[in-house]
Amino acid sequence: MSKTLIRGARVLGGAPQEVLIENGVVTALGTVAEAGGATVIEAAGRILLPGLVDLHTHLREPGREDSETVRTGTRAAARGGYTAVHAMANTFPVADTAGVVEQVWRLGREAGYCDVQPVGAVTVGLEGKQLAELGAMHDSAAGVTVFSDDGKCVDDAVIMRRALEYVKAFDGVIAQHAQEPRLTEGAQMNEGTVSAELGLAGWPAVAEESVIARDVLLAAHVGSRVHICHLSTAGSVEIVRWAKSRGMPVTAEVTPHHLLLTDELVRSYDPVYKVNPPLRTEADVRALREALADGTIDVVATDHAPHPQEDKDCEWAAAAMGMLGLETALSVVQHAMVDTGLLDWAGVAERMSFRPARIGRLTGQGRPVAVGEPANLVLWDPDHRAPVEPAGFASRSRNTPYRGRELPGRVTHTLLRGRATVADGALTDAPADTPADGARA
Ligand code: DOR
Ligand code: ZN
Repeated sequence: MSKTLIRGARVLGGAPQEVLIENGVVTALGTVAEAGGATVIEAAGRILLPGLVDLHTHLREPGREDSETVRTGTRAAARGGYTAVHAMANTFPVADTAGVVEQVWRLGREAGYCDVQPVGAVTVGLEGKQLAELGAMHDSAAGVTVFSDDGKCVDDAVIMRRALEYVKAFDGVIAQHAQEPRLTEGAQMNEGTVSAELGLAGWPAVAEESVIARDVLLAAHVGSRVHICHLSTAGSVEIVRWAKSRGMPVTAEVTPHHLLLTDELVRSYDPVYKVNPPLRTEADVRALREALADGTIDVVATDHAPHPQEDKDCEWAAAAMGMLGLETALSVVQHAMVDTGLLDWAGVAERMSFRPARIGRLTGQGRPVAVGEPANLVLWDPDHRAPVEPAGFASRSRNTPYRGRELPGRVTHTLLRGRATVADGALTDAPADTPADGARA
């Protein structure tokens, strides 16, 4: 029997408590009388959070193993405090069949660092023309409930309507990359004063907002759930706020980078800042932070998008879009939301664990820190300060926009069903004893 005692951690930022874990389950909380034989983790000064759950991770396998693999990506996730990630479907081949989603799911279990919940494509080949086999992916061992053509927008209204109708039967959700394709053809960055000065083709806010407006109306019409990926503008916030005030079935996510960075950074022409949707303005950042605090935006999702050096070390126009997120997400959220007084740690747990698990309908993840619950936990040292050093990342890629920037906090331990995937800040290397119960156990 494995036994671990965590001593002195502030559970969800509250009072220090002791937490006893036996055989992967929390068995005592508060003051633990009897813990003979337990491995003790001294955690005074640290915050204990539920294991983080990411709704939006690009693991790149199959097909782009030069960027990331399921193993390297889930090691990065564990270092970031995640115990479950949703793996996006824009792989090669695309995850649009039961076979591919099962393969990704199985690779996640074999790696053993973090539960991998595959996202299925909405349309065959992400082409936007023909619905993929959503039911077969749902019925597969991977048990897919989240579907997305992320990277591309499901722009045909009829296809979007059919997808919403189809997943309604099993309480699935369509995660939309809201981006009107014609309005964003050739776009290089946010459309605004900076793009005008730099002479780069702009990506107007209306391209995102018009699709969100259509899709909340469609979701309400069908009575089926839509989730808005990486919402990035103040106008998008207003539309989601309105839709929620009318009881429409919409949820939304924001990335860490959209909570912190702006299009001013593009003046450097450093492609590390090239991302889709693009970095927006200071006013957008402010609106996104407020919306995350007031619940208009439900969750933080990383959009972890690894790219190899040769796809980023080139001129701006030719560079790939996307940035790493898993290993810095909680630091950025502490900096942007907690240290600014906008959120407390319980609020962070809601937005980075409980709610994403609920949206993805994961049952064994995003659970309260309570007796009888699986011990998916992260210990966070909020007082740690260090410049971001990508050389130490577990990801196979290095495209972080935070290189050299001082960010707060550090994961000291991540526990997946009681087993340390990260201990004393370092990945453990023999996690192969993953029990039979996966993400949806
Ligand atoms: O910047 C992005 N990169 N946005 C997306 O939607 C896709 C992602 C990727 O796959 O690289
Ligand atoms: Zn996207």
